[in-house]
Amino acid sequence: MKIIISKNKKQASKQAAEMIIKQVKKKPGSVLVLATGGTVILVYKEVVKISNKEKIDWSNVKTFNLDKYLGLKEKNKHSFRFFMDKYLFNRINIKKSNTFFPTTNFKDYESKIKKAGGIDFEVLGIGRNGHIAMNEPGSSFKSRTRVVTMNPVTRKDNSRFFHSLREIPKKGITMGISTIMSAKKIILLGFGNKKSNAIKEALEGPITKEIPASVLRKHKNTTIMIDKKAAAKLKQNYNKV
Ligand code: PGA
Repeated sequence: MKIIISKNKKQASKQAAEMIIKQVKKKPGSVLVLATGGTVILVYKEVVKISNKEKIDWSNVKTFNLDKYLGLKEKNKHSFRFFMDKYLFNRINIKKSNTFFPTTNFKDYESKIKKAGGIDFEVLGIGRNGHIAMNEPGSSFKSRTRVVTMNPVTRKDNSRFFHSLREIPKKGITMGISTIMSAKKIILLGFGNKKSNAIKEALEGPITKEIPASVLRKHKNTTIMIDKKAAAKLKQNYNKV
């Protein structure tokens, strides 16, 4: 596992964007798994900037999102489809028909990924409680795409995007941990003080289903990209850039 500690969120986001672009340049028909949330907004803005500047061709790329709220229509401005269109898909030349979100037909989602050739590159965030996608603490490392009930901590954290906590769906559909671990390459992003505990537990605590992100230490090609604030509680010395 590689750990990159950047001086701030901006620098880390730029670096993450460059890695995504590098993947698309190397393999124009890449299969990407993408995250939503506050952390990736700047990353996608940088991806758009580079794509426009360097005329990156996204027309053969396929994307699969990690998760979505159950019961929110795609048109709803809180839906993850709305988020992805707004920050990325509407700003690059990707074909919307090549962009996928999990549905209640879980098997179909998994087989679509398989048929596309498997996941080349995956972008993950991390929750304050160590979750990855909507795999909350206690999720089995063997889990696949499924309906889950969101943890109260996650609903509270996500409430900043809604008018009130009541509006947030209680359930979501998420790729499972085993699905996530099938990616050839993974980057996990975490910025700010509020992620420092989760980062510490994920990197230096035991590998346990109580901290879902800790499973990434078993993955062969994962890069953890954090800023100084998120790295503040780490005990070991890591290279800073
Ligand atoms: P955030 O969410 O980027 O909005 O902090 C990350 C996550 O919960 O995985």
